[in-house]
Amino acid sequence: MDKLPTPNTHRPQRAPRFRPLQLALVLLVASVTSLSLLTRWREVKLVQLPINAQEALQKCQSLNKTPGPPPDFHSRLASDRFEHDTPPTLIKNATIWTGRIAGLEVVTGDIFLDKGLIISVGNIDARSLDIYKASLVTLDAGGRWVTPGIVDMHSHLGVDSAPALKGADDTNSLKGITQPWLRSLDGLNTHDDAYALSISGGVTTANVLPGSANAIGGQAFTIKLRPTTARSPSSMLLEPPFSLNGTTLDPSLTPRWRQMKHACGENPSRVYDGTRMDTIWAFRQAYNTAQQVKKKQDEYCSKALNSQWEGLGDFPEDLQWEALVDVLRGRVKVHTHCYETTDLDGLVRLSNEFQFPIAAFHHAHETYLVPDLLKKAYGTPPAVALFATNARYKREAYRGSEFAPRILADNGLRVVMKSDHPVLNSRHLLYEAQQAHYYGLSHYLALSSVITTPATVLGLDHRIGFIKPGHDADVVVWDSHPLALGATPTQVFIDGIAQLDEPFFSEKSQAFQKVPQTPDFTEEAEVALKYEGLPPLPTRKVPSNTVIFTNVQDIFVRQDGQIHELFSATSAGEPGVVVVQHGNIVCSGTKTSCAVDQFHSDIPLVDLKGGSISPSLLTFGSPLGLEHIQGEKSTKDGRVFDPLTGTVPDILGEGSVIKAVDGLHFSGRDQLLAYRTGVTTAVTAPQGAGFLSGLSVAFDTGSEHGLVDGAIVQEVVALHVNFASNTPSISTRIAALRRLLTTSTPGELGVAFEKVSQGSLPLVVEVHSADVIASLIRLKSEVEEISGLAIRLTFLGASEAHLLAKEIGEARIGVILNPARPYPGSWQSRRILPGPPLTKLGAVGTLLEHNVIVGLGIEEQWSARNLRFDVGWAALDAGGRLSKAKALALASVNLEQLLGVESQANYVATQGGSILDFQGKVVGIISQRKGAVELVE
Ligand SMILES: *[C@@H]1O[C@H](CO)[C@@H](O)[C@H](O)[C@H]1NC(C)=O
Ligand SMILES: *[C@@H]1O[C@H](CO)[C@@H](O)[C@H](O)[C@H]1NC(C)=O
Repeated sequence: MDKLPTPNTHRPQRAPRFRPLQLALVLLVASVTSLSLLTRWREVKLVQLPINAQEALQKCQSLNKTPGPPPDFHSRLASDRFEHDTPPTLIKNATIWTGRIAGLEVVTGDIFLDKGLIISVGNIDARSLDIYKASLVTLDAGGRWVTPGIVDMHSHLGVDSAPALKGADDTNSLKGITQPWLRSLDGLNTHDDAYALSISGGVTTANVLPGSANAIGGQAFTIKLRPTTARSPSSMLLEPPFSLNGTTLDPSLTPRWRQMKHACGENPSRVYDGTRMDTIWAFRQAYNTAQQVKKKQDEYCSKALNSQWEGLGDFPEDLQWEALVDVLRGRVKVHTHCYETTDLDGLVRLSNEFQFPIAAFHHAHETYLVPDLLKKAYGTPPAVALFATNARYKREAYRGSEFAPRILADNGLRVVMKSDHPVLNSRHLLYEAQQAHYYGLSHYLALSSVITTPATVLGLDHRIGFIKPGHDADVVVWDSHPLALGATPTQVFIDGIAQLDEPFFSEKSQAFQKVPQTPDFTEEAEVALKYEGLPPLPTRKVPSNTVIFTNVQDIFVRQDGQIHELFSATSAGEPGVVVVQHGNIVCSGTKTSCAVDQFHSDIPLVDLKGGSISPSLLTFGSPLGLEHIQGEKSTKDGRVFDPLTGTVPDILGEGSVIKAVDGLHFSGRDQLLAYRTGVTTAVTAPQGAGFLSGLSVAFDTGSEHGLVDGAIVQEVVALHVNFASNTPSISTRIAALRRLLTTSTPGELGVAFEKVSQGSLPLVVEVHSADVIASLIRLKSEVEEISGLAIRLTFLGASEAHLLAKEIGEARIGVILNPARPYPGSWQSRRILPGPPLTKLGAVGTLLEHNVIVGLGIEEQWSARNLRFDVGWAALDAGGRLSKAKALALASVNLEQLLGVESQANYVATQGGSILDFQGKVVGIISQRKGAVELVE
């Protein structure tokens, strides 16, 4: 790649000769390009025409055609993706978000689908469909919300497949820094378990991008997710830009949009030892090469079109660079993974230097700080493709803000929410839009951000992203308003084909059929900007010993290891009050029952405006508290030595065991954000890749440092071992655990395992596979038979635990599901229970039915702040089987019991709604630990 490629010389040079057709063509061109046919005729007679002159002329004429649908596209009567035997379908009585009029149009009525297309929308007279009678399928939507299918603009579906197996990762090529010739299509696996799961979340189209390990990672391909009759990757493609037999564009056709991946910043340095300066140079070098090929083509064509064939030779082409040349011709949507200002600036300069538009910046965590910079890019300002709250995992993402979508939209930039699947499970892409809406993006832009905007940015809005006649029949019927938490499809159509055979869903209350009334975060968004993405995250102690919360809708309290609803304004017929003294709830109930009038008039009152008081939540499963930035080694406690997989230095002594309390880091942004969203306690185990992690700690997420009163909640919580890896083997791990549980061993480790054997210290085992779970259940009973004492065992992860729910329940083992919503990412965790709409119950419901105590974990620390929504969602997925109180227990008392944390008495006050929904905003923490009420500012 250092040298400029030589022009295409592989074609044998044959003696030029005239053929009648070529002559006619030359004549024709000559006649339109010349004033004097006679003069030109003389010239033509002298010119030696190359053998492929006709082809070259066609190419030249098509070189600068703008991609898009062919002129007759909108009069199509059937989709090119239509599968025969698909019945015509009438969706009756739907509330239809069409995507039109900037996302503001809602139509009440029906939708008729046939031949893979949306045929009509509105009030459809059933008699007009009589001709279809025999085959017509009717779906009564019963007034439910219907949207176009969700479009994921940034996915690695099919190239980073589930379950991950050797030879199924085709995301990144590590062979070079700029490789525009690579194509994600060449690695597209049709057996990814995630297709069906993502469809069950309403995703119908995905743009499958190569990874970001290279500055230019290659060409992306947009696919529809449904299985095809042909079963091939090629048949999944939506409007492939070239004949699948090659890369040549058929010059007689209107070209289609192509897609390409670029990446800047830290990622590309993974394929070579380089800096940002090297990466931008690599870009410039590649673009310079493409520019020279383009220049040669343009010069060639200007001569050919003027019939100056003398010495012209073959049309200059270069298979390696043709895609990048097409970028320069404005015929490729360039998707650029780019986080921070330095890199955004570099790419904006590159786009102007080489004059090509950037379709979108992806990840783009700092774009909201520099909207005007984006507007300086060449051509249309790039759209911005974001995660909602997944941030701070590396330095480039450190200033990421949940307010970015609204700030960008306020600046007139187009916002797309994306999954980067499997980074986020694209089944839940809609959740990203819901969170963006929660933090202030308007409801119409939030829905657009996963439907119409990505369809438009991809150049595919002529057929997907809208419900209107003539568009592809990609339609989702939802069980609630799509921006309501837990919105789940009741049916998904792709190309008019119903994708869910036997959908499971439950009727949701009217409250879920409306756009959630989200809190006002205007001030927070301004502060985020003011502090360049690092706003202080303080809570303010109320100086008064007594604080009264008024206008309370519900009050949930801890009692005997359970959560109880103590008060409900609906039952009481009036709003409630909660009186707090020194961080303790001393009275809750009505104004009269708490004798509120007796309190002094200068006691601070906090109006919850119909909000709730709920137990604060506890998070477990991530390294929260042991690291500030996942991708930055210097911000972490680091990894522990493992006695099974490596050597432990002598200086640690025999039988050493590591305590997480010794490695705690406070004031991390993820910790403080967790605190502010009601997650006041975290339990974290030492981080290790081996078998034995060590002893976990419980700490206060809102404390400034480890010596503050109440910062350390419990120095030692549980002992942690890992069965999620098999090096050395699972059987070796079982043997090690057996020995440690049955034989007395030296050192602190021996002491810890003795406590485990006696049942006084919980043992938390990370495990996913049902087979390994079975071995562990056998081991437990074997050990208990010897000792006569019960072990407190908890499984963490446990994606396949539902398969042994009965046995786990009978063995009195607890389960912490992590992630809370399962994903078949590995072979060990592939047999998930996906829950509605694919199965009636999910893992939570199934385990609870077998009396297993269940808690919800998190995998990555940025998501601690979202625990409240995980809990609310789990309750909704259980379809009424899980009361709010039981749901709250999943992330409070149940976790305390499973981990062995002494019961906490912190509470959370939410305004405008509950902690479990998109209406509520956390405004206060009632901290018994700190003996005070703290307000979230
Ligand atoms: C549409 O569904 C709603 C909700 O179930 C119902 O109230 C209404 O009567 C239905 N309308 C028609 C025309 O069927
Ligand atoms: C590819 O080539 C085969 C064999 O020549 C042909 O049957 C097929 O139609 C071609 N496919 C496309 C998409 O051009």
